[in-house]
Amino acid sequence: RLVPAPQRGQMVREIGDILRAKKRELGLLVTNEVGKIVAEGEGEIQEAIDIAEFAVGLSRQLYGNAMHSERPNHRMLEQWHPLGVVGVITAFNFPAAVWAWNAFIAAVCGDTVVWKPSERGLMTAIALTELCGEVATRWGFPGLFSLVTDSDGALGKRIAADSRIPLVSATGSVRMGRSVAARVGERLGRSLLELGGNNAVIVMGDADLSLVIRSTVFGAVGTAGQRCTTTRRLFVEQTVYSAVVSQLISAYGQVRIGDPRESATLMGPLISEAAVAQYEHAIKQAQQQGGKVVYGGGRVQGMLSGWYVQPTIIEVSEPIPMMEEETFAPILYVCPVKSLQDAIEKQNAVSQGLSSAIFTQNVRCSEAFLSAAGSDCGIANVNLGTSGAEIGGAFGGEKDTGGGRESGSDSWKQYMRRQTTTINFGAELPLAQGIMFELS
Ligand code: UN1
Repeated sequence: RLVPAPQRGQMVREIGDILRAKKRELGLLVTNEVGKIVAEGEGEIQEAIDIAEFAVGLSRQLYGNAMHSERPNHRMLEQWHPLGVVGVITAFNFPAAVWAWNAFIAAVCGDTVVWKPSERGLMTAIALTELCGEVATRWGFPGLFSLVTDSDGALGKRIAADSRIPLVSATGSVRMGRSVAARVGERLGRSLLELGGNNAVIVMGDADLSLVIRSTVFGAVGTAGQRCTTTRRLFVEQTVYSAVVSQLISAYGQVRIGDPRESATLMGPLISEAAVAQYEHAIKQAQQQGGKVVYGGGRVQGMLSGWYVQPTIIEVSEPIPMMEEETFAPILYVCPVKSLQDAIEKQNAVSQGLSSAIFTQNVRCSEAFLSAAGSDCGIANVNLGTSGAEIGGAFGGEKDTGGGRESGSDSWKQYMRRQTTTINFGAELPLAQGIMFELS
C-alpha cells in the first residue's frame, strides 16, 4: 500500500506485456479447459490485456475531489487509500477475464487479491497466477496474487465470512450471490456482485434486420449461450416478426458446431453433463408451457461425443414462466410485441437486470429505451447485441444481477477506501453549521 500508485501501474504494465506475448497459448488453455472456441478464448485474454492497459492509465488517475470549505482558512478534500485484501470468486465461463478485471484494478489501487476460481477453470487460474505472480515477485510483492481452490464451496463461504477481507467480488449464479452477500453483510463487509442475466433484445419494425440477425446469433449462440450477457429473449414487433424468425432459423442452420480448437467452429460444447441436463429440462418445461421449438431442441446427434447441444429457438406468443429463468445454454425465446411500450414492459418483467439492447433507426424509440422509463438494466445498447461489452465501461447490472460494477469507468472506487479530510490552516477554530461552543 505504500508503493506509489504509478509504480504499481508499471508492474501491471509488465503483466500486460506478458499476457500479450502469451495470448495464443493462454487462449488455447481457455479453449481446452472450458470449451470456448479459439477466437473467444483469445478474446478473453485480449480482455485481460485491455484491462491491464486501462489499469496502467488509471494508476495516475485515482483522483479525489477538492471541496470548498464553509469555514475560513479551511480546506477540504478526499483521498483514496488501498482497501486491503480483495476476495475474488469467479465462474467457469470467463476463467481469465473476470479475475483480470478485478485483480489489475485492485493491484493499481494497492490491494492484494485472493482468488477462488471455479474448479472448472483451475488450469487457467494457475497459469495466470503463476505468470502474474512472477512479475509481482520480481517487483518485491510475492503475495500480491494468491489462489485458493476447493470443490465444495466451503472456501467461498470462508472468504465471505472473513473480516480480514474488506471486499468480496463475486461472479456467478444468483443463488451463490445471495449466500455470499448474506455472509459478507453479516460482518458489514462489502460485496461486489455480478450475478445472473436474462438479457433481452427488442427489435422494432424499422430495424436493420441484417444487424439484428448477426448480433443475435453471436449473442445467443456465442460461447454456447454461457455468458452472463447471452441474449436469451427476443421481443420483435409484429410487422417484422415472421421475417426475423425465418432469417434467424436459416442463420442458425449455418452455425458450425464442433471441436472448439478448430478455427472454423463457431460453437463448442457446454461445460458439463449437468449443463446439458439443464438445457434439456428447460426445453421440456418451455414446451409444456406452450413454447414451440422451431430450431434445435436437443443434443447434437452423430459424430460429436461430449456435451454438444443444438442452439435452440423457442417461439412463444406471450412470455412463459421459463423465460424468467437464466438457463446457461443456447436457448433463445422469441416473442412478438405490439409496441415499444409492450416490449419494454416485457423486457423488464424479470428479476435479473444485466444487459439489454434495442434495434431501431428511430431516435424516439432508442431514446425512450435509454430513458429513465426504459430499460432497467445495467447495460443498454442501441443497434448492437447484449454480449461482448468493452472493458472501458462499468460492467454489471441491477435487481437480482446484484448491483455491482466491475471493470472500467469509476469501478475502481470500490477497491479503495475514501477518506474525507478537512485541514485548518488558520488560528481560529470555527465550527461547521455555525455552531458556537465557547467556554465561559
Ligand atoms: C460474464 O459472462 O460473466 O460482455 C462476463 C461480455 C464479456 C464479459 C462477460 N465482456 O459478454
